[in-house]
Amino acid sequence: MSVHKEVKKVTTNTLQEMKRKGEKIAMLTAYDYSMARIIDAAGIDVILVGDSASNVMAGHETTLPITLDQMIYHAASVIRGVDRALVVVDLPFGSYQGNSKEALTSAIRVMKESGAHAVKMEGGKEIEESIKRILSAGIPVMGHLGLTPQSIYKFGTYNVRAKEEEEANRLIEDAHVLEKAGCFAIVLEKIPATLALKTAEEISIPIIGIGAGGGVDGQVLVLHDMLGLNVGFNPRFLRRYLNLFDDIKGAVGAYVNDVKQKDFPNASEQY
Ligand code: KIV
Repeated sequence: MSVHKEVKKVTTNTLQEMKRKGEKIAMLTAYDYSMARIIDAAGIDVILVGDSASNVMAGHETTLPITLDQMIYHAASVIRGVDRALVVVDLPFGSYQGNSKEALTSAIRVMKESGAHAVKMEGGKEIEESIKRILSAGIPVMGHLGLTPQSIYKFGTYNVRAKEEEEANRLIEDAHVLEKAGCFAIVLEKIPATLALKTAEEISIPIIGIGAGGGVDGQVLVLHDMLGLNVGFNPRFLRRYLNLFDDIKGAVGAYVNDVKQKDFPNASEQY
């Protein structure tokens, strides 16, 4: 008899069931094997291999420079660390907008080369054709509306989106388009909590918020932000659970000191 305990994997159906039961969905980003292992072991439901890797891993100012090859590298590393969570990968800027055939090719590459479970795409009506084509290949798609960082040069700022009625109405219409097209969930980023709540009530698929209040079906944060690795980024929606920048700096400072003082390695730390 095998003593190996089977893990019940999170699927897109699990998320729909969680929404039905009113159970909140917990999602975080990860970009590498070690962090993915930790957050999967901690019980995270969904891991997003976000194109925020462009910011927090590569130090770019925006998400625009990251490439499809780089996203696939991050996603494959994450997948190797995960037993339970659903792993969703951002299609990067330029890999799906405006050409549904190219969008499908990009999504297939992500699924084939990384082993991920789904892709995420930013936008509404304007990318409907690409979403449908990807879905028709059996690849689950998560939508992303509100502040969509790949459009930062159109918006001009990272301020809250959809505060005015016209943009709020458009966001709800887009959420309906994504639901009807067959997306399994939608991320809403940095919009008023009342609008997010209304969307979550109107739309039958799970709505996962970041800076969208507590009325939605789940929450997502960038791992490096909530662990306090990314100092200087302090939006109102961010709750920091650790202050790792200072902790790691302190530990490295102590190591440097020990080496300089010839305290490391000591007699029991050598062969
Ligand atoms: O890339 C990312 O990390 C994201 C989240 C902010 C939702 O898209």
